[in-house]
Amino acid sequence: MAKIQARGVNREFQIRNTLGRKERLKVLEGFDLDINEGEFLSLLGPSGCGKSTFLSILAGLDKYDGGDILVDGRQLQERSFSRGIVFQSYALLPWRTVIKNLEVGLEIRHIPKHERRRTARQYLELVGLAAFENQYPHQLSGGMKQRIAIARVLAYQPDLLLMDEPFAALDAQTRENLQIELLRIWETDKKTIVFVTHSIDEAILMSDRVAFMSARPGHIKEIIEIDLPRPRTEDIRNSAEFAKIRKNLWGMLQDEVLKVQSYGGYL
Ligand SMILES: Nc1ncnc2c1ncn2[C@@H]1O[C@H](COP(=O)(O)OP(=O)(O)OP(=O)(O)O)[C@@H](O)[C@H]1O
Ligand SMILES: [Mg+2]
Repeated sequence: MAKIQARGVNREFQIRNTLGRKERLKVLEGFDLDINEGEFLSLLGPSGCGKSTFLSILAGLDKYDGGDILVDGRQLQERSFSRGIVFQSYALLPWRTVIKNLEVGLEIRHIPKHERRRTARQYLELVGLAAFENQYPHQLSGGMKQRIAIARVLAYQPDLLLMDEPFAALDAQTRENLQIELLRIWETDKKTIVFVTHSIDEAILMSDRVAFMSARPGHIKEIIEIDLPRPRTEDIRNSAEFAKIRKNLWGMLQDEVLKVQSYGGYL
């Protein structure tokens, strides 16, 4: 049984149109997706198709209006399970040092102080920032902050890791390093990861499967198995197989983006 089963999920928002009238905006409609335990699954789709909305629902930060989401066979709302979220913006606490930022989730879980510190240090080491434990977030670069945000979520050891374009704000070099770093950590941890990205290359490099979404109202249009060997390295981007998958996904994305443009951008 899949860890997460989304069946016919709908989500509508009430918005005001250009005339100021209330209108319902269908964001997700008939969204079906199974996510397996321990898999790295990416959600790829045009801007505004509902990727972040689905992630927020899984995170318990948003509700849905129809359909079902089961986690380990039970309704999402009835299940308490630990979820770690990494957003595009780092969401670190500016008044806390790096090490104290890593300890936040562990404090919530009432882990004793010495154990908190030990776990936090272990994960800080994993992302190569052990020397920075007493710095404050404003003293770090964007890439370092994102490393801390990832280490913090990993230290919490959630059942499910939700990542919404975690590398989007980074420069190309840092982004590529962090992709490989996250893969390395995932290879040892094998947590279930749902990863939202705009980048076709990133989705192929990281994922076991890429769930491709249609333009809004968003649903899963196709699931592409990425049958490339692991552990994956930078070189894999140059392989013929990678190029083939990229071409296929690029065509699919282009079709959906054109659909969005033909709506005149909205509603
Ligand atoms: N709270 C809200 N109230 C009204 N509309 C919303 C709300 N949240 C999201 N939407 C709308 O839902 C649609 C999907 O938004 P969402 O953020 O899920 O898209 P996305 O696929 O993550 O896009 P992007 O790739 O640009 O991040 C958008 O049209 C957005 O305006
Ligand atoms: Mg989004």
